[in-house]
Amino acid sequence: MHHHSSIILPLSLLALTVFLMCTTEFRLPAFFGSCQTAILTDNSVIQSMTKPDLRILVGVLTTADRYERRQIIRLAYTQQHGTYHDDEVDVHFVFCSLSNEEQSVLVTLEILQYNDIIILNCTENMNNGKTYEYFSSVPKLFNDRPYDYVMKCDDDTYLRIGNLVESLRNKSREDVFYGIVNPCFRADDMDYKMNASFMSGLGYVLSWDLVEWIAESEIARNNTDGPEDIVLASWLNTAKKGRNRYHNFPGIYDYKGDNPDETCFRHAFIPETIAVHLLKGNLEWARTLKYFNATKGLKPSKLYHVPSWPINQ
Ligand SMILES: *[C@@H]1O[C@H](CO)[C@@H](O)[C@H](O)[C@H]1NC(C)=O
Ligand SMILES: *[C@@H]1O[C@H](CO)[C@@H](O)[C@H](O)[C@H]1NC(C)=O
Ligand SMILES: *[C@@H]1O[C@H](CO)[C@@H](O)[C@H](O)[C@H]1NC(C)=O
Ligand SMILES: *[C@@H]1O[C@H](CO)[C@@H](O)[C@H](O)[C@H]1NC(C)=O
Ligand SMILES: *[C@@H]1O[C@H](CO)[C@@H](O)[C@H](O)[C@H]1NC(C)=O
Repeated sequence: MHHHSSIILPLSLLALTVFLMCTTEFRLPAFFGSCQTAILTDNSVIQSMTKPDLRILVGVLTTADRYERRQIIRLAYTQQHGTYHDDEVDVHFVFCSLSNEEQSVLVTLEILQYNDIIILNCTENMNNGKTYEYFSSVPKLFNDRPYDYVMKCDDDTYLRIGNLVESLRNKSREDVFYGIVNPCFRADDMDYKMNASFMSGLGYVLSWDLVEWIAESEIARNNTDGPEDIVLASWLNTAKKGRNRYHNFPGIYDYKGDNPDETCFRHAFIPETIAVHLLKGNLEWARTLKYFNATKGLKPSKLYHVPSWPINQ
């Protein structure tokens, strides 16, 4: 008896310690984060066995007819599997009500195949409340599976999902408004009046509590028209919400391409990218995906020959 309890007591103390470490705000350094079983493989990929401590819903706002763009985005993110926990991020495409026979069939096929589409009850628009419709619908649509954060991004934005997750991991989970402040400023210029500003509509993140607030708020419901990013920020600024604001310079930016000028907002690709915006056509997507090594896994085969092109930023 005595032998047993002398072992059981220390063991249960250890278990309690681990339990407390896992349930409080205590955080281990980056790669060992959050009491998950993390295995570092040769390419520093994290594979976790347990539930993530952070969940993000990414809504890519697009229109029903943009089948090709959705397919490119799906391919792009499939190539990033392994840079984040599979349960951490759900990417969904978001658009307004279907409006013709063709869409009813083709979008249904996509839903059957991918189940990654949200159809809001609205008529297609950019600056007349689609963003409001999105955020105010999310708490009803996902009341069983709350996320910590909800992102809105454009369909010409490419996310580095692993970097997005890591940049949010040690952030507050409450009252968060995250993105890149517009007008842009460099990170050492922190005297900028962040609470009177807005996050660029290319991609921003709200914590779940703010999304629930938007769904209830008359301030939001009464003011849905206008440039969506300015309008959304005006709700938060009016209500003095989103006190935890994160300005992600230089990780979020516009594609530079052949443009000779760099601005605060527009610069060449960098490895620590969170989001690149203004990928207007397939060539911009191709160059971006090439830079981020999406095509690196191609094996030689007699079935194809793929000529290679120099990296073009
Ligand atoms: C969609 O919105 C319209 C106008 O607000 C409303 O009349 C209709 O009942 C809604 N449809 C659904 C399926 O919620
Ligand atoms: C989060 O991580 C960043 C970068 O490693 C660091 O600068 C910042 O102080 C951390 N914030 C918190 C709240 O731990
Ligand atoms: C921003 O918020 C801080 C703290 O709440 C306040 O001191 C400052 O006056 C605010 N600035 C603007 C421009 O509203
Ligand atoms: C929103 O609009 C309604 C109806 O016009 C009005 O009664 C209410 O006071 C408005 N609320 C806010 C916060 O502006
Ligand atoms: C792409 O792969 C090359 C070669 O392995 C590596 O040097 C580079 O850092 C990778 N680029 C990014 C953005 O991860």
